[in-house]
Amino acid sequence: MPLYLDPEELRHQAPGPHLDLIGAMAFRAAGAAQRLGIFEALTAGPLSAAELAARTGTDPGTLPVLLDGLVSLGYLDRGPEAVYANSLMTASSLDRRDPWSYAPALAFWSDLLGELWDGLEETVRTGKPQADFYTWLEGRPRTLRDFQTMLDGMAVGTAPLVAETAPDPGERLLDLGGGHARHTIAFCQVHPRLTATIVDLPGAVEGGRARIEEAGLGERVTLVPGDLATADLGTGHDTALLFNVCHGFDAAANRALLGRVAAALRPGGTLLVLETFADLPEGTPPVVEAFLRSFGLNLAVTQGGRLHSFADVAGWLAEAGFVHVERRRLAGPDELLVATTGEEG
Ligand SMILES: C[S@@+](CC[C@H](N)C(=O)[O-])C[C@H]1O[C@@H](n2cnc3c(N)ncnc32)[C@H](O)[C@@H]1O
Repeated sequence: MPLYLDPEELRHQAPGPHLDLIGAMAFRAAGAAQRLGIFEALTAGPLSAAELAARTGTDPGTLPVLLDGLVSLGYLDRGPEAVYANSLMTASSLDRRDPWSYAPALAFWSDLLGELWDGLEETVRTGKPQADFYTWLEGRPRTLRDFQTMLDGMAVGTAPLVAETAPDPGERLLDLGGGHARHTIAFCQVHPRLTATIVDLPGAVEGGRARIEEAGLGERVTLVPGDLATADLGTGHDTALLFNVCHGFDAAANRALLGRVAAALRPGGTLLVLETFADLPEGTPPVVEAFLRSFGLNLAVTQGGRLHSFADVAGWLAEAGFVHVERRRLAGPDELLVATTGEEG
């Protein structure tokens, strides 16, 4: 929503909440436009409301209400003949053909907020999540695809950096919750002798399988569909990756998982945890912090997770038998925790 505060205009209108209200409506309207196929229909060129209604199967009397709203919110432009076109912002950020497209994120968050945030008050009252996020996701193939595409898009930039700066992973890598495979691929590309096993939920590993084949790594990477709480993680791995997984679980589930990870590593093996910790790095910009604190709320309401502090994760690691825990800053709020299992296993 490319709208800026006009202090004079908003002086008497509780500017923060009023802009939040517009933002909430804008987000809902943009999600609806995307689901109805409006932005996609306009990628080939401008159309009148009547043409758009025919293409998208929508009501020609009501569609212009949405279209004019989207014009005022910056998503569409309206020409003199009441012809609509994607705005520059929409064309440059919501085209699914673009690998950096925000379209999967908009679609995913729109579904999630629309369906799973209803019980926020109840979660804060009782401490209980309102849903099991991954069960909900597995039952919604389109949202699941958007979620994994969004994660993959986020990992495209960070994966090579992490793989290059992480300690030498040895020869056997275990990537827990690494379904989209981008991190495993980056590690395999940096370390030609590495073989890897990825464990993730069945729906998540499907996208990863295609990327692994595309990268020509089919012989070196094994995909194991399963639940991290029960799947066979194997033994004797040199390095395990636990990237952006701990925040989805509460303390008890993390303790149990880290115990299983310790058992799957060889004595002296390495665990790399990539996370945004609740104690954010100094200098985190306010807009990044605002997103991350809201993301923490999302974790609480949809899956009983949260952003954990570094000290909490380090404490669980010590209980699980890890002997050395180091915190390394990466670009932005992501951080890498490097831990080693004791030589006795
Ligand atoms: C936030 S994503 C992180 C993906 C990837 N590791 C990364 O950093 O980009 C969490 C991943 O953990 C997987 N996951 C969550 N709960 C799981 C469970 N109980 N068993 C297996 N995988 C799980 C999800 O399917 C998802 O791929």
